[in-house]
Amino acid sequence: VSSFSEISVKLRSQFEERLVQAIPAAPESLYAPVRQVVAAGGKRVRPLLTALCYQLTKRDQGWINAGIAIELLHTFTLVHDDIMDNAATRRGQPTVHAQFGTNEAILSGDVMIALAQSALAKGEHQHAAPMLLEFSTGFIRVCEGQAYDKDFEHQHDVSVSDYINMIDLKTAKVLETAAVLGALASGDVANVGALRQFAHHVGIAFQIQDDLLDLTAEHADFGKTIGGDILEGKRTYLLLKLIEKSNALGSDEHELIERVLARKAKDADIDPVRHVMERVGVLAETRSAVEEHTSHALRSLESINAETSMLQHFAEWLLQRRH
Ligand code: IPE
Ligand code: IPE
Ligand code: MG
Ligand code: MG
Ligand code: MG
Repeated sequence: VSSFSEISVKLRSQFEERLVQAIPAAPESLYAPVRQVVAAGGKRVRPLLTALCYQLTKRDQGWINAGIAIELLHTFTLVHDDIMDNAATRRGQPTVHAQFGTNEAILSGDVMIALAQSALAKGEHQHAAPMLLEFSTGFIRVCEGQAYDKDFEHQHDVSVSDYINMIDLKTAKVLETAAVLGALASGDVANVGALRQFAHHVGIAFQIQDDLLDLTAEHADFGKTIGGDILEGKRTYLLLKLIEKSNALGSDEHELIERVLARKAKDADIDPVRHVMERVGVLAETRSAVEEHTSHALRSLESINAETSMLQHFAEWLLQRRH
């Protein structure tokens, strides 16, 4: 029996070459940014999920086109997200808009969606129509989530439940799509519901952890700007939990939070925000929330009649991630 790490390395190696082949050569101004951001790596979380869901019932490589489609959809969201979030670094390199220009980043992002749809169509799947609908739904939901994410930057009454709804749309739905495409590509219609549940909870955990890492990751492995969410005034899980604990804060700390909420925080505010979050227990509570949503995900696997140990390892692997 192979371990999760052996299987994930193998699936990734089957995938990488095919992913690069899906990107045309010319015009250079359109495709060079696509090639660069794709070649810069990334954890390939979503195509791995597609592969593992496919391989619950089938052994061949019939998941790869769906995997390419989901990774290109995801990479499109990153390129446009970095414009929207004023981000300078992604996957350890300058962001596409910082390096090539905003117009180039918009258009290169756009074409990635079309390349993703082409990959999906080339799969010639038995359930092609439901797969296209699933893909489109994931794409629509991430746009809706990104809209809420930006709207919330200017709202002072965002609740934790608003936040969960927002990250369900911007992050969890794309993981759902990744899982469901894998199941449908293999013809395993019976397990679509349970796999969707699993991916939903993994996705919620994933975004809360992304918020946590934004403030607490080690600079060397992170590949993005640490504290970027503070500088942009993002209503993250951490910030909303800190607001809930306002009673425990001093007046300097209140002013600090007010600056973050007003999107006026500076680099020098990042360490103090991390310290107050540590002191009042926000960081520990956030870690627990990630673990709780992961446990929920694992429970969703119980109704599946197939060997789900690789999906369990997948969820546990995400808990260990450092970037
Ligand atoms: C970042 O996704 C965007 C989120 C939805 C949190 P990943 O953390 O999967 O980014 P890459 O693909 O590994 O770079
Ligand atoms: C991710 O939210 C949502 C996307 C759809 C890309 P973030 O804005 O937190 O993602 P990162 O941290 O920039 O990767
Ligand atoms: Mg964002
Ligand atoms: Mg961002
Ligand atoms: Mg983030």
